[in-house]
Amino acid sequence: TKEQLYSINNSSLKDASIWFNNGCTGEFVSSEGLVLTNHHCGYDAIAELSTTQDNILDNGFWAKDRASERVPVKPLVVTRVVRVDDITDQVLSKLTGVAEKDRSAKLASIFKELEKKATEGSSYSATSREMFKGNAYYLFVLEKFTDIRLVGTPPQNIGKYGGETDNWMWPRHTGDFSMFRVYCGADNKPADYNASNVPYKPLKHLSISLKGYKEGDFAMIIGFPGRTNRYEFSQGVALATDVVDPSIVNLRAIRLKAWKEQMVQDEATRLLLSSDYASVANYWKFFDGEAEQLKRNKVFEKKAAEEKVFGQWASSREEYKSLLYDIDQVYTLYKPYALQSTYMRECIGAPGIMQLASLGFALDALYFEKDTLMKNKTMSKEEKAKRISLIDSNILKISKKSIEALADFSYTDRIRTADKKIFQGMLSMYYKNIPANQWPAVFKKIASKIKNGNSEAVFAKYTEMVLSKSIFASKEKIEAFFKKPSYAKLLADPAFALYKAHRDNYMTNFKPKVDEFMSQSVALGRKYIKGLMEMYPNRYFYPDANSSQRFTYGTIRSYNPKDGVHFNYITTIDGVMEKYIPGDYEFDLPARFIELYKAKDYGRYAMSNGKLPVAFLSDNDITGGNSGSPVMDGDGNLIGIAFDGNWEAMSGNIHFDETFKRTISVDIRYVLWLIDKFGGAGHIVAEMTIIE
Ligand code: ARG
Repeated sequence: TKEQLYSINNSSLKDASIWFNNGCTGEFVSSEGLVLTNHHCGYDAIAELSTTQDNILDNGFWAKDRASERVPVKPLVVTRVVRVDDITDQVLSKLTGVAEKDRSAKLASIFKELEKKATEGSSYSATSREMFKGNAYYLFVLEKFTDIRLVGTPPQNIGKYGGETDNWMWPRHTGDFSMFRVYCGADNKPADYNASNVPYKPLKHLSISLKGYKEGDFAMIIGFPGRTNRYEFSQGVALATDVVDPSIVNLRAIRLKAWKEQMVQDEATRLLLSSDYASVANYWKFFDGEAEQLKRNKVFEKKAAEEKVFGQWASSREEYKSLLYDIDQVYTLYKPYALQSTYMRECIGAPGIMQLASLGFALDALYFEKDTLMKNKTMSKEEKAKRISLIDSNILKISKKSIEALADFSYTDRIRTADKKIFQGMLSMYYKNIPANQWPAVFKKIASKIKNGNSEAVFAKYTEMVLSKSIFASKEKIEAFFKKPSYAKLLADPAFALYKAHRDNYMTNFKPKVDEFMSQSVALGRKYIKGLMEMYPNRYFYPDANSSQRFTYGTIRSYNPKDGVHFNYITTIDGVMEKYIPGDYEFDLPARFIELYKAKDYGRYAMSNGKLPVAFLSDNDITGGNSGSPVMDGDGNLIGIAFDGNWEAMSGNIHFDETFKRTISVDIRYVLWLIDKFGGAGHIVAEMTIIE
């Protein structure tokens, strides 16, 4: 019933599904705060806890008791939804008459007020979300836990089995799960890490079914999908396939290649870079697949056809008459700058040296303020002195913070070697793909040295100069600089100067255009959705994903990826062994795993045919952020953990394809077998509620 899924007064299934570390989903599986999520969701925490002496990323880890659970280097956050309020009427009534350009500022203040009212006198927090691009609004009351400890993880050659090769694809054989426990104060309320904290008692934890499923069985998911853009216009689809997606793919390939060259040579380097590598690689392949599948699934053509029908309906309606024309105008104006934000993030901001140089940016703003103040002739001496001393104390504060941030940043010789290639590669990409009339002066100067088209020689020399001269190329030099910061030194630094030139160029010349485009396209989208709702009064509409809690239901379902090919809905451990390549980076397996396979020691986790299930397909609608979500049967029992989407529906963020879209999940029986038989941690399984 609805009440079993979501209830404000009683515990319901929504209480078992939590937002894991602001980007994934997890679920409670015991009354003692035990949480299951994906391996790739715990990856960063696991990698940070790993050293060459105690390599839990490669070897796996199972806490033998509560005291051995591991405290992450950076605290993790688990958020539970207390309740959801529909605030549409309150928000819209306060927005009437507000101009488009003032809308987001006004919204922020409306949200703030409503969130304050919703949480007054409680320890909860709240966040509001715009739905249907501003046709509806919801407020989420939340409870955030910050003492989260690692309970267990399989070795990565199981948790990430298949690596980048199998990522986003079926058939799949990955044991993509890890386990954490939420701790809190004695009052069952959130508390920061403290050795004396106790396991959290959730309102609801999921029972686990070992009964399995067959094609056509009901399956549902409650999780926190990140972002979709299902009401995107055809022009936006063209921008993705022709401009933005291929650029991200080409830029990310540079980082991945340079990192991998170093990672395969040295274990410590591999541990340092593994997590960044995995996340950059994940969306490198994503955007490749998105562009390919948007084309194969003819999404542009489908959107254009829908718009045409809308256009006919709109032609006699004053409110909507010019909408399609306006959309075209907005996208046409934006197109020449459409690569600017991507290049700022994925090109200029990508090399480690640029990220380090960006640490100087907060100082830059303060020094600029100080300079302006010094030149001020009308302010009184006292006032001036007061303000300058405030700025100086902020400079000290920022410097201290920057030194702290450095503790995280390892710029070892190997990483610097990789970064050199990345930096040089990025300069070349910028030179080739951004029109010269959009370059900042510093870059024009570098490029002016290019003779006879030999850009590589110029960029190689420049790279050599920056990485030998910049204070940001050495941790010791940066630390020394921040201990005694000087503006002249900062401005003279070649890495900082380059970063600043690009950032200033972006902020003054392009960011206003990007912001304008965003605000106009959202406003047009809002009108389009409103029009569609009027045009199809009997159709169900659902809002785009926006990291708020959502429900999706469907069935266990196989598919045909192309003519003449059928993909089964389930994989087994036999397929894990078929893919096994000893010593391989992505398809190696632990010796103990192979022994257990040979002995066919699957216990109560085997299916009735004696095989051990590994992964399965259902036609639920998920996206990034749903990773780690509970997949439940019709009784609300856990049957698997969602961890991926399938290649043929990589267009899914923009268009839901009824034929191809699938959710890929790891079977809960494989998870329990890995903990119990492979990991020898039966005491953890004993804590769960199991239905045989
Ligand atoms: N594609 C998965 C997702 O975004 C993440 C898989 C992580 N694994 C990897 N090989 N990078 O949900």
